[in-house]
Amino acid sequence: MKKIEIKNTAIVYNDILELPSDDKMLMEKAIEARKNAYAPYSKFNVGAALLLENNKIILGNNQENAAYPSGMCAERVAIWNAGSHYPGVKIKKLAITASSTISKVDKPVGPCGACRQTLSEFEINQKQPFEVLFMGEVGEVIKTESLLSLLPFSFDSAYL
Ligand code: THU
Repeated sequence: MKKIEIKNTAIVYNDILELPSDDKMLMEKAIEARKNAYAPYSKFNVGAALLLENNKIILGNNQENAAYPSGMCAERVAIWNAGSHYPGVKIKKLAITASSTISKVDKPVGPCGACRQTLSEFEINQKQPFEVLFMGEVGEVIKTESLLSLLPFSFDSAYL
């Protein structure tokens, strides 16, 4: 047997104001998208903004449903929006933000497991990592250099 080390780095910014200007601009788009979330059940509003290599910005937000599992996360709404309008166009960055009408979200909110899985297929297919930035409503912003750094030992089509 052997023990292996999984190494990873992320940058933690104190707040949105500390971000480089292109990242700040994308996060502001995610905030705009978050404001249109349809989350009457969880009251937890999530916004996502993708920057594509053709410089288009694609937005998404969570869309809930009275039949709870029929709802969808912001990140998958955004990535499938990009995939349906710009198939094959590479993703450069993803920004995510979450807020709640119940309490102040002051910690970075990373993408859920199902979103990581879905997003990973896009990163693998484009053979190029994309940065992922995430925050709550206020406070720290985390930036990772790739999606796969958030999903070690991931499952992909190579196993099929
Ligand atoms: N949600 C997202 O939009 N993205 C995530 O990565 C985590 C959760 C949404 C789903 C649901 O509408 C609400 O947040 C509460 O789980």
